[in-house]
Amino acid sequence: MPTTRDSNGALYLGGVSLLDVVRDPSAPRPTTPAYVYDLDAMAAEARALRAGFDGAPHLVAYALKANTAGAVVRALAAQGCGADLVSGAELAVALQCGVAPDDIIYNGVAKTDAEIDQAIATGPRGIGAIQLESVEEIARVEGRARAAGRRARVGVRVNPSLDMDGATHAHIATGHDRAKFGVPRPDVGRAVQLCEASAHLELVGMGAHVGSHFKSTGPYVESAEVLFSIVSALRGEGRLRSLAFVDTGGGFGVDYGESALPVGGETRDAVPPPPAFVRAARVAQRRAKLDDLALYVEPGRCLVAAHGVLLARVTQVKVAGDTRWLMIDAGMNDLIRPALYQARHRVVPLQAAPTNEAPIPWRVVGPVCESSDDFGEHALPPAPGEYVAILDAGAYGYTMASVYNGRQLPVEVFLAGGRVAARTERVPIERWVAERLRAGR
Ligand code: LLP
Repeated sequence: MPTTRDSNGALYLGGVSLLDVVRDPSAPRPTTPAYVYDLDAMAAEARALRAGFDGAPHLVAYALKANTAGAVVRALAAQGCGADLVSGAELAVALQCGVAPDDIIYNGVAKTDAEIDQAIATGPRGIGAIQLESVEEIARVEGRARAAGRRARVGVRVNPSLDMDGATHAHIATGHDRAKFGVPRPDVGRAVQLCEASAHLELVGMGAHVGSHFKSTGPYVESAEVLFSIVSALRGEGRLRSLAFVDTGGGFGVDYGESALPVGGETRDAVPPPPAFVRAARVAQRRAKLDDLALYVEPGRCLVAAHGVLLARVTQVKVAGDTRWLMIDAGMNDLIRPALYQARHRVVPLQAAPTNEAPIPWRVVGPVCESSDDFGEHALPPAPGEYVAILDAGAYGYTMASVYNGRQLPVEVFLAGGRVAARTERVPIERWVAERLRAGR
């Protein structure tokens, strides 16, 4: 359990009292909304995942899009993680946080020429692999490599053509026929041929990423099996001689607390721990007789989600009819997952109620002028106190935050070794607005 309570009912993360974080007397302005991350727990998560490979050649390419904070990327890089990224800025972050160029995979359907150039120019041999997401992209990457006088290492991202209806939210299913991602199955042979015919490309990887947040290993393995069968068939034709790895993508789900919720009187199956996804993929890899190749995975969420919380202050209580509204200073601009994916994050008080009063239902909402600015109904004490924590917010929280409604981006607090290792601060409103207006915004 990433958060714990002490005997007085105060909520802790990474050995630090979260009440102390929000009541920090040295912070001059409101300390909420604030993301707080446990870097040590994220590092431990990465170690456990890597152990799941049982020493076989592998790369855990952390998907930076889940949480791009330098402290987080550094903590994961220190555990030997590589990086999966989707922009030139993420590439710069990965390099500056100590990820080796060889351990970087660049996915993305619409990389700009400048971003391709940046990837090709990185390190002595470019990054580990630029993942090609269409047949059309191949000529462009080849042209940029030729212009740079370099040979770019590339991978082909296969669209496995799998409908994941029901297995995950439609917005985050990426491997079906109508998705913009990856090379369609019928075109994969041609893509491989084009790469192999080029003096400026070296085809080192074959990959797939079928979607995000799978709560069982089945869909992940299904996608891996499609990828492996394509690789085996091409090898059978004498192709893919320079192949070094197969990449089964990210998508390992986490338990946002749903497993405790009864469904039709029964509880759901627990989400398998991250190494279970790796083990299942390795079984499929062995079965396909591809264990001479390194296995790459691209997890984001499972390494960081559970080890981050979003802290918010209660600003207003409103009782209207049957509804008790708990209005907080964090909104959909800070954490958009509930609005965008109907996601549910648990909301808990920073200070548990001292009495044994039974919790009552509260509708927790933010200040943003949209009805979708709604964190759902939660059982909280009749007097929930001054602060609440929104749990499992370490992935796709801050990285998807916006300034909608004239709101500053949330504060970020980094915990390590049982103390606050670093924190950002809100700036005074006047300064924030003045800077924006100066830039014409
Ligand atoms: N690799 C590729 C090519 C991806 O597109 C993604 C995620 C990942 C790896 C990492 O997936 P993960 O292990 O984190 O599931 N904003 C959404 C998730 C979007 C995922 C996009 N791609 C959310 O909050 O649920």
